[in-house]
Amino acid sequence: MPHDFMPGLAGVPAAKSAISDVDGERGILEYRGIRIEDLCAKSSFLETASLLLSGRLPTQHELVHFVGDITHHRRIKFKIVDLLKCLPEQGHPMDALQAAVAALGMFYPGRNVKDIDNNYWSAVRLIAKLPTIIAAHARIRRGDDAIPPRDDLDFCQNFLYMLSDHVPERIASDTLDVCLVLHAEHTMNASTFTGLVTASTLADPYTVVASSIGTLKGPLHGGANEEVVVMLREIGTPGKVRPYIENKLKAKQKLMGFGHRVYKVKDPRAVILQGLCGRLFKECGSSQLYDVAIEVERVAAELLGEKKIYPNVDFYSGILYDKLGIEVDCFTPMFAISRVAGWMAHWFEQLRENKLFRPDQIYSGEHNRPYVPIERR
Ligand code: ACO
Repeated sequence: MPHDFMPGLAGVPAAKSAISDVDGERGILEYRGIRIEDLCAKSSFLETASLLLSGRLPTQHELVHFVGDITHHRRIKFKIVDLLKCLPEQGHPMDALQAAVAALGMFYPGRNVKDIDNNYWSAVRLIAKLPTIIAAHARIRRGDDAIPPRDDLDFCQNFLYMLSDHVPERIASDTLDVCLVLHAEHTMNASTFTGLVTASTLADPYTVVASSIGTLKGPLHGGANEEVVVMLREIGTPGKVRPYIENKLKAKQKLMGFGHRVYKVKDPRAVILQGLCGRLFKECGSSQLYDVAIEVERVAAELLGEKKIYPNVDFYSGILYDKLGIEVDCFTPMFAISRVAGWMAHWFEQLRENKLFRPDQIYSGEHNRPYVPIERR
């Protein structure tokens, strides 16, 4: 039977899912049917994570329990801290995160994925522990001790505290919370698809998340947020934007933080993140990076608008993280802190009607070639 080959599986449905939906023409993103604009204005990251996992908004009682479960599981074992200490300081934090998450699977039961109750606790552990791992690694590699979580601080306050040893201003933790809501889920993206393929083999959830982390790291996916800030720093001032972009496009290079397989308008998440930049910089002082970014967006709209290439989620997020004192190579781990909620929601969904992913290929090689002995090659 002939098959159409779609490079990158563009437009090919890989799963049926009730978790999120994107309307790429109108720039609409919904989690479980709720617009992200509503969630960013009224919800929190943990409430959104609960929504993604369970399919509906939690009651007050359920939310208190869920937040309590997460808070209770934020600590990481000394052996995981020791593992982070053994890694090279100059190694990428996404590699450290991937290694630590894979190691979590050796400490916690997860192999019996038919145990629904245990699957909930695996999701809780992963959502709870990722920030602790990232903060610990960030400190250890600069020679500081890891700081254990503080139960009196909320999810984002605690993360920034574990990173810096200071309880952050409210505006900083609130800004981070909205960033996490925005990154929590996004239909069948590359890292979610990777997780589903791994999940379909009935691998344990720590392996599922470790494989998704590996995919998220790439510069065409989550890694673009780091490249954006590198690019904005390289440009330096708004006056240098136009020649920089023109040269890049002439050299057939891509502008990081622009373009999307699904969105043909500005990514709605970029719109919200840009608004957050405005609010944060009004209170905490402006950012040169932001001034350059605005000019990049303006010039790019002129030069790339015809191709429907606009800012994506990665364009403004790094500028915010930079202002929050997060180092550039920790931007993609920030993405993982949030997206693990979506990965786990898809894992639950996959297990409900699991079928092993085993796609086909179109063979383009030869047949019936003779084996030539080595002395005659
Ligand atoms: N800068 C310049 N040109 C671009 C860009 C860009 N960022 N993105 C796409 N284009 C151009 C391509 O050169 C191509 O032009 P052509 O038809 O004249 O050859 C056309 O638009 C189509 O591009 P593709 O790469 O084929 O489109 P695809 O759907 O595969 O790409 C992708 C999507 C990978 C995100 C792409 O836009 C890109 O590489 N962007 C930069 C990296 C980035 O920001 N990634 C983060 C995405 S969001 C996320 O994953 C969280």
